[in-house]
Parts: sequence; C-alpha cells; structure tokens
Amino acid sequence: MVQKSISIKQYNTFGINVYADLFAKFSSIDELHELLEFNQRSTFNDQRKTLILGGGSNILFTKNFEGLVLKNEIKGIKVIKEDEHHIYVQAGAGENWHQFVLYCIKNNWAGVENLSLIPGNIGASPMQNIGAYGVEIKDVFYSLEAYHIRDKKIVNFTLNDCEFGYRDSVFKKKFNNEFVITDVTFRLNRIPNFNISYGAIGQELEKMGAKDLSLQAVSQAVINIRSSKLPDPAVIGNAGSFFKNAEIQNSKFKSLKETFPGIVGYDLPNGNVKIAAGWLIEQCGWKGYRKGNAGCHVKQALVLVNYGHAKGSEIYDLSEEIIQSVKEKFGVGLEREVNII
Ligand code: FAD
Ligand code: EPU
Repeated sequence: MVQKSISIKQYNTFGINVYADLFAKFSSIDELHELLEFNQRSTFNDQRKTLILGGGSNILFTKNFEGLVLKNEIKGIKVIKEDEHHIYVQAGAGENWHQFVLYCIKNNWAGVENLSLIPGNIGASPMQNIGAYGVEIKDVFYSLEAYHIRDKKIVNFTLNDCEFGYRDSVFKKKFNNEFVITDVTFRLNRIPNFNISYGAIGQELEKMGAKDLSLQAVSQAVINIRSSKLPDPAVIGNAGSFFKNAEIQNSKFKSLKETFPGIVGYDLPNGNVKIAAGWLIEQCGWKGYRKGNAGCHVKQALVLVNYGHAKGSEIYDLSEEIIQSVKEKFGVGLEREVNII
C-alpha cells in the first residue's frame, strides 16, 4: 500500500521529522517491481525520485523527500551451501543485522561476532562495508543480489564486484541509487578465528571473567564496550559515527605528532596513517557541545546527536562547523560517513 505525505520520523534513528511524498514497504522482488512501475507512472511529482530505506540508521534527512521512499522488508535466512570449513548463509535485505549476528552465534557460525549490535538491516551492510572492532563485512562476504532499478533485472555481485573499502563500496559511489540490494550471502566459518586484537576487547573479556574464548563471549564483550560509549538511538537520536576517520600521509602525521603528541593514529598497509577523527574533534572542543537540539555526544565526539526536535539542517550545519574547525586546527579534511538526503 502506498501512503501519501507521511512522516518518516519513526523510520530514521536520528528521529528527524520530515515527510515523504510517497511511502511504501515491500517484502518481495515482485512487490518492489510493482512499486517502481507505479512510481514511474505516477504524476504525483515530477522528479519521481526513489529512496530505498533499511533501518534508517545511517541517514540524515535535511528536507522533505519529494519522491517515493521504499522500505525494504524482504525476510528469510537460509543455508545455501556447506563445505568442510564454511557455511554459506543467505539473508534477506530486510532482516535485522544484529538479530542475524545472534542467529549465527547460536548456530556456532563464526565471523560476524565482532559486528554485534550494529543497528540497521542486512541490505545496507554492504553499502558502506560495515565494520567494527577489527572486522568488516568484506571479511565474510560471499555475494549479493540486487535489482537494477532502470533495467528491471537482478544482478549478482561477487566480492570483487563490490569494490569494498573503508566504509565504502560500489553502491555508495558509482552505482549510487541504481540498485536495490535484495539479499546477501555470507561465508561463515565452522572453526572460529577469533579477532580480539582491538585493545578494548581483551580488556573487556578479562573484566567479564571469560575463561574460554567463545563466540558468545566476544559478542558480549563488543556489546558491553559499544553500550558504554555509543548512544542508544531509542533514547537519543543519532546515526553512529557521523564522520569517517581520516587517512593522511605518514609525513603529515609525523609533523602533526610533533605539535600534538597525543594524536591517535594507526598505520595502514599502504604506508598512510588513519587518524582518529573523534580525537581531532574533541581537541577542537566539540565533545559534549550542544546548540539547540543538535549536539556532539558527551562520550564519543564522532557521533552527532538529536536532543529532541532538531531539524536535519541543524545537525548538518553543526557538522559543517566541526569540519571547518578541524581543518583550521589540524589541516585535516573530514568526510561525512552518514548519507545526507
Ligand atoms: P539505512 O540508514 O536505511 O540506509 C543507509 C544507506 O543505504 C542509504 O543510502 C540507503 O538508501 C541505502 N540502502 C539501505 N538499504 C538498501 C538496500 N537494500 N539496497 C540499496 N541501498 C540501500 N556502522 C558501522 O559500519 N559500524 C559501526 O560500528 C556502526 N555503529 C553504529 C552505531 C549506532 C548507534 C548507529 C545509530 C549506527 C551505527 N553504524 C555503524 C551505522 C549503521 O548502523 C550502518 O551503516 C547500517 O548498515 C545502516 O543500515 P540501515 O539498514 O539502517 O541503513
Ligand atoms: N577518541 C577520542 N575522543 C572521542 C572519541 C574517540 O579521543 O571523543 C579516540 C579514542 O580514545 C580512541 C580512538 O579515538 O583512541 C578511537 O575511538 P573508538 O575506538 O571509539 O573508535 P572510532 O574510531 O571513534 C570507529 C568506527 C565505529 C566503530 C568503532 C569500533 C568509524 C568512522 N567509526 O570509531 O563505527 O564502531 O571504530 O571499531 O570508523 C560507525 O561507523 O557508525 C561506527 C560507530
């Protein structure tokens, strides 16, 4: 059913109250196809724009959406193939990511435990190659199916086709808004290859008194760390890290380190350094800052928050001020991670 002029406040974790001209949910490719056909025929608006929405946890609406918002609710999880070392599990784009992680852990399928408690749905996970605590979905990704909006056909993407990078893929850049991801297949491990090198996990496992490493213990450690510093969108509107960590040349990092000895950076295989944008933002005095209903989270400066009735434009303007001040103080340009609409 297509609804007209509907608030999408409940469909985005920032809790921004904007209106979509048209809104509908779909739970199969046939329904998606029909809705896209309808939108093409519709004379409700001239642009006939379409926006595919999952859990709305990586999106900032700065204005009403003059087009059709389609919420992906394609469900289903099934094992499609098994071999000596791996289980290939296909999940519908509308499945909740964290529920999928818990389902894998329950079945002793390893590989996604470090990605516990990331909000959103399966369908958006390849969009920005979600990552946390030393793991990205590219590490367990096998393939996906996506519906090409213009050509009206299903296309299969392998790992190489997706061109995954840090918070990046072909769907975010060159194929932006061209495809609707309908399902994703993950290659999970029978034998866990625990990744607890990310400092805080080891400490948290010790604090928990976990005697043996297990998928459950690692997942719980990640959940504990995340809950201690990231705001729960059910309590305070946000979309996780608003900015990406910045990649700079090693020479630039060294000279910054002379002036700012506390700067946090990690060496990358290409010789560059990834610097913690949260540290840069905190040093510029933004952590805990609040202007009206928009703010910078008190425990994590990378996360912008909506204290109540913020407009998307207020959050966006704050992000612009932050980018400028980081540029002035450190000469580093920050990129937004969140999709701005
Ligand atoms: P949405 O916000 O609905 O959509 C995001 C983008 O993908 C939009 O451009 C949308 O049009 C597009 N899209 C959605 N579904 C489809 C589809 N089926 N086909 C094509 N395009 C689609 N991210 C991380 O990587 N690591 C983290 O640790 C992390 N922590 C977070 C913590 C919090 C508290 C919050 C609120 C967010 C966090 N995020 C994190 C960001 C977010 O959870 C992920 O980006 C997630 O994958 C977004 O999923 P979603 O379904 O909510 O996507
Ligand atoms: N830091 C500060 N001040 C802050 C925030 C961070 O100094 O206000 C410093 C910390 O002390 C630490 C470093 O920055 O030394 C890194 O902080 P943290 O471990 O919290 O991770 P992050 O780099 O801020 C990234 C991801 C998160 C992901 C975590 C854990 C990005 C943009 N963000 O955050 O992903 O959960 O690592 O792996 O890469 C997201 O993408 O939405 C997201 C939450």
